[in-house]
This record gives sequence, C-alpha cells and structure tokens, in this order.
Amino acid sequence: MNNSAMGSSDTAQHKIGSGFGPTSTAEDVLRGVDLTGKLAVVTGGYSGLGLETTRALVRAGARVVVPARRPDTARENLAGLDGVETDELDLGDQESVRAFADGFLASGRTIDLLIGSAGIMACPETRVGPGWEAQFATNHLGHFALVNRLWPAIEPGGARIVSVSSRAHHFAGMRWDDVQWRHGYDKWAAYGQAKTANVLFAVHLDKLARDRGVRAFALHPGGILTPLQRHLPKQEMVERGWIDEDGNLLDPEGFKSPEQGAATQVWAATSPQLAGMGGVYLEDCDIAEPAVEDAEDRAGVRAWAKDPEQAARLWELSAELTGVNAFPAQG
Ligand SMILES: NC(=O)c1ccc[n+]([C@@H]2O[C@H](COP(=O)([O-])OP(=O)(O)OC[C@H]3O[C@@H](n4cnc5c(N)ncnc54)[C@H](OP(=O)(O)O)[C@@H]3O)[C@@H](O)[C@H]2O)c1
Repeated sequence: MNNSAMGSSDTAQHKIGSGFGPTSTAEDVLRGVDLTGKLAVVTGGYSGLGLETTRALVRAGARVVVPARRPDTARENLAGLDGVETDELDLGDQESVRAFADGFLASGRTIDLLIGSAGIMACPETRVGPGWEAQFATNHLGHFALVNRLWPAIEPGGARIVSVSSRAHHFAGMRWDDVQWRHGYDKWAAYGQAKTANVLFAVHLDKLARDRGVRAFALHPGGILTPLQRHLPKQEMVERGWIDEDGNLLDPEGFKSPEQGAATQVWAATSPQLAGMGGVYLEDCDIAEPAVEDAEDRAGVRAWAKDPEQAARLWELSAELTGVNAFPAQG
C-alpha cells in the first residue's frame, strides 16, 4: 500500500501554494507525471472539460475508460487517441449505471483515478427514473451509485476520486424538505443544489475511504464555454454579459480555455502535492479557501457544502434512493 495516500485527519481547507493558477493547463500540471499502467474512468470524458481531461491523461500514459450516454459521439470525439475505450452509461438511469459497473467489474481490472466530469446545467424541469429531478439525479445520484458500485475495483492505497462541482454551489445548499424540486422548480437553484451535493459527496466519501488510502476531492474548474450551456437560451447568455447578440464572446479574458478548465480536475486526480490529503474543495489548481458569505465572485467553498453532518445525511439519503452503499456499516 502506498502510505503517502493515507491520512487520518481532515485536510485543512486552505491554499497550499501549489505554484499553479487559473491559466495553468492540464498539460502544465501533468509535466513530469508518468501515468503509465494507471487506469482512469472519466465520465463525460468526450466533451468539454472531460474531453481535455481524457486527452491529457492519455498523453501522460494512462488508459482511460470513457462511459458515454452517446457512445457513437464519444467514439467520434475520441478518434485517433490511443489508450481510450468507450462504453455505454446514462447517469440518469440507475439500471444503466448498474450495467456499466457490472461490466467493468467483470473485466477484473482496477481503477486508479475516477473523475466525475459529466453533468448537466440549468435544464428545464426534467424528471428521470422514479421521478427524480434530472440535475440532482444525473450530477449527484448517478455518480454516487457509480462510485459505490465500482468500489470493489477501486485500487486501495492511492486511488483518487474527483467530483467535479462548480462555484454554482454558492447558489444553493441542500433543499432537505424538497430535494427533488416537486414544488417551485428553479433551474439555477437546482443546479446549485446538485453542485453542493457534488462537494458533500467528496467530503463523506473521503472520510469513509481514506483508511484504504483512497482519497476524494471536489472542485470548481473555472468558467469555460462548452456544450454545458446547451440549455441556456441565447438571450440569457446575452443578459449575463457572456456573449453579444451575434454570439461573440464579450469578455474572453473572463473565461478559461477547455485546456485550462481541465487542469484542476487533472491536478486533483494526479498531483503528488495532494498526497495524504482529501475531502477538500479545489479551484485554480490549489485548495480553495472557505468562502466569504455572499461573496460576489463566488470564490471558495460555502460552509453548507463542507458540513460533515450534511455530508453524512446526503450519503444516507443517496444510499436509500439508489439502493447502493459500499460502506453499509459506516455510511
Ligand atoms: N463549463 C463550465 O464553465 C463549468 C463551470 C463549473 C462547473 N462545470 C462542471 O464541469 C463538468 C463538465 O462540464 P463541461 O463544461 O465539460 O460540459 P459538457 O461539455 O456539456 O460535458 C458534459 C458531459 O456530461 C455528459 N452527460 C450529461 N448527462 C449525462 C448522463 N445522463 N449520463 C452520462 N453522461 C452525461 C455529456 O454527454 P452528452 O454530450 O452525450 O450530453 C457530456 O459528455 C460538469 O459537471 C459541470 O457542472 C463546468
């Protein structure tokens, strides 16, 4: 077992001075890192930040499994990359999560890095499975079930699990009295709740898994124009000051490139600078600071997303809803 992955105490939610920053790219953070022989699973690894993540990991020598809800598109987007394989997975469909995980477990292989980059944002009210709100179900419950089902394959002593959240977690904490938005759906608050859930998931998973040397991180990747914005009407993006009426970027400096956007998740998954740490929220390739309440720039992590009691409560609820829990005695 790689003892450098172990760590029994909580990691401080403060910058470590990694030397990287908002303009660092996935390639920058992987310089000198050799991932030969490592296996990564990257959900959403065929679009936006996930695609750049897959490219960077493969360049560093890893083999990458990309589960896709559109396998044909995934194969097209990943054509020409050696060391990548695709499979079918719809995170909004628990049966599909089970089928993907069972297929992977049957292969007998182990996972060194799992990056949950798939997600949807601010969609019109959509129901999936047993009537679950789609953003909570896809962004959180799908990844929750995936990690728990894949747990027997997650390599002890060094594996990392990365939950791609967002500064949008500032929009909303857990809406405990109506987690599925049955009353008064708000697309941005629902995205915020799902992204808070992504952080709480990493907090509790890290607590449960760290004795095995498996560590979990959550992060905000930055603001990057990708297909994630597909559900936003053009007028809304104009009103937010992102683009003009002709679709041109108004403030190119205000956005990261996909290569920069992928950097923090790649750093989380691979950096030796994070050895022995976990359960923290990252941004710009460093551990973030606790947020100043109602800060306009939404920098740092809100207390509601790091609260260990809420993290345990979300774990319990997610296990109940999905029927999966790799840690029944502790979870
Ligand atoms: N871009 C940003 O500015 C930004 C900012 C903060 C946080 N984030 C987070 O970063 C992550 C990646 O975003 P992105 O910008 O790379 O978006 P993207 O280009 O839209 O990629 C998202 C990926 O998730 C996949 N996906 C969506 N629903 C799925 C489902 N039910 N099952 C399986 N896969 C599914 C998509 O597949 P299809 O292509 O087949 O739909 C796509 O491959 C998301 O979690 C997002 O919340 C992004």
